[in-house]
Parts: sequence; structure tokens; C-alpha cells
Amino acid sequence: MKKLGVAVVGTGFWGKNHARVYNELDSAKLVAICDVDAERAKKVADQFCAKAYTSSSRMLKNEAVEAVSICTWSTGLAREALKALRAGKHVLVEKPMATNTKQAKQLLATAEENGVHLTVGFLMRFIPGLRHIREAVENKKIGELVCATAKRVSQWPERIGDVGVVKDTAIHDIDVMRYVFNQDPISVYAKAGNMKHRNFEDYAHIMLTFKDGKSAFIESNWLTPYKTRALTVTGSDAIMRLDYITQELWIEAAKENVQPKYPWQEPLKLELQHFVDCVLKKEKPVVTGTDGLKALRIAEAALRSSVKNRAIELE
Ligand SMILES: NC(=O)c1ccc[n+]([C@@H]2O[C@H](COP(=O)([O-])OP(=O)(O)OC[C@H]3O[C@@H](n4cnc5c(N)ncnc54)[C@H](O)[C@@H]3O)[C@@H](O)[C@H]2O)c1
Repeated sequence: MKKLGVAVVGTGFWGKNHARVYNELDSAKLVAICDVDAERAKKVADQFCAKAYTSSSRMLKNEAVEAVSICTWSTGLAREALKALRAGKHVLVEKPMATNTKQAKQLLATAEENGVHLTVGFLMRFIPGLRHIREAVENKKIGELVCATAKRVSQWPERIGDVGVVKDTAIHDIDVMRYVFNQDPISVYAKAGNMKHRNFEDYAHIMLTFKDGKSAFIESNWLTPYKTRALTVTGSDAIMRLDYITQELWIEAAKENVQPKYPWQEPLKLELQHFVDCVLKKEKPVVTGTDGLKALRIAEAALRSSVKNRAIELE
């Protein structure tokens, strides 16, 4: 079986997991690791018998590297993804994909020009319960979709110092809402602010409005002492609740409550397996570069809405 040669750029908290998971996949060969921190690069590379680099430009010259995960600090993602795409590598760039939509558009154009895959690390899409919800909404198993609410709260992960909670955290739920509603919101209204974080917002409440009056509400913060990651989807006949952490799903209707069972699976493993499969089989990934661009555009509009204290229409 052909194995895809993969590399990871940025092996901090999250990139280390990408390296571990690639190493576990039968269809991938982890060939290189790059981190500006030489000690970190060497440690992770040695663990998985890969080659360590501190310069991604040098690593990208390695022909055994066919696809790259970009897991650097958020403000460096677009620069590193662009380099990899220009070098003709397939790219999985972590969320939020770029610092702004201008950079994100450049990534899409470069992937297109070079005929390579570009996907974004929207991990929630790979949790089986969320797929169940998406299908139940589409097949009207809960009646007409009315609204959805997401809660993603915890303490501030101190290693995140270059973006606020909207682009770091709420962006997952922005993507989830586009996925569940299977359409783009027409407007966004948000309230964000900072209570503990000096430079960026550490709480945000975002309301997305869809056509026909359907709406979604996202609560995210880095202020809550415990970690909650949950989604509730309300339909005219039933309610679905998903706990992203335990992956438990509940469906509550007037006459019965059911709990569809999915064995817990590591979302990152499902995500990276899908990326590798798409590259090897030349198939379109579940999460496209356009999904990344659209989520980022909504995140930017949410921040603008909060500053202007009014709803922002989305084109
Ligand atoms: N999809 C998810 O669920 C998820 C979860 C966690 C983190 N992330 C994303 O992953 C990215 C990394 O987050 P983290 O928590 O691992 O941060 P981190 O600070 O722990 O790690 C970042 C690493 O990147 C390295 N680095 C920075 N610039 C580099 C460059 N130009 N070239 C090579 N290495 C470079 C740093 O030395 C560090 O080791 C962020 O964009 C974050 O949003 C996504």
C-alpha cells in the first residue's frame, strides 16, 4: 500500500498530537518535523524516527514530504501554509487558518494554482454524534430546525497568546453551525470583551441569524473554571444534545428519549486519516479551504459587531 509522506510544522501542545497520530496511521509515513524550537523539534522527531528541522523552507525541499500539517501559533499559520502550498505540498492548516480573510483567500488561490489539497482543522466535524445531528436535521427527524446553541467554555489556555477566544475557540462552533444548518448565516451580532486577558477578548456571545428566522447562539469564554464543550439543537419535534468531550448524544422527544451509541473515537485520528485518504484517493475533503475562509469571515464580522454594537449583515 502506498504511504503518504507527511510532516508537521509546529510541534507544541497540538502539533505533537498530529505527529503521534500520523505515526499510528497505516497509510502515512511521518518523515519530518519542524519547530523553531530546535530542542522540541528533535525530541518529537526522535520519538517517531523522523527528520528534525528548524526551518520549514529547508524541510519543504525534502521530496519525501508530500503533505504537511501546519500547527504553529495562530498568527503564523497562513505564512507557513502558503510556503507549503507554494512548494506543491498538500496542506492541513489548523484553525483559525489565517489571521484575516485576505490571507485565507491567498491560501485558497495558491492551493488551486498548484493543484493541491487544502483543508482546515475543524475537528468537531469528525465526531460521529455531530454527523448524526447533521443527518437528523437534514432528514427532519427532529421536525423543523428551530435553533442551535453551543457552549465552549474553560479557563484560558495560557499558551494561546496571539488571538482571542473568537478566532481560537468560537470559530469551531461557527463552523459547526454552518454545517448543521447547511447554509451560511445572513447576519451576526456579538458581544465580546476581556475580563482577565490583557490583549484579546476572553469572552464572546455570538448570535447568527439564518434565513427564515432560524438562529444559532454561541457562548465561548476563557473564564469558566471547568471545561464544557456542548451543542443543543432544537427542532419542532425533538431536541438533540451532544457532549463533545464524552461524545454522548441524547435525543429527547415528547414520547421517548433515545441515546444513540457511538464508540468513542479520537477525532484527530479520524481527521488525519480522512486528510490522508483524500490526498491518496484524490477526493475532496469534508472540510474545504472555503469552509475555513467562511468561518474566519464570520469570526471577523462577530468582532466587528461587538465593537460597533450592531448586527453585521453577511453577504
Ligand atoms: N483543532 C483543534 O481542536 C486545535 C486544538 C489545539 C490547538 N489548535 C491550533 O493549533 C495551533 C497550535 O496550537 P498549540 O496549542 O499547539 O500552540 P503551542 O504554542 O503549544 O505550539 C506552537 C508551536 O509552534 C512552534 N512554531 C511557531 N512558529 C513556527 C514556525 N514558523 N515554524 C515552526 N514552528 C513554529 C512553536 O515553537 C511551538 O512549539 C494553533 O493554531 C491552535 O489554534 C487546534
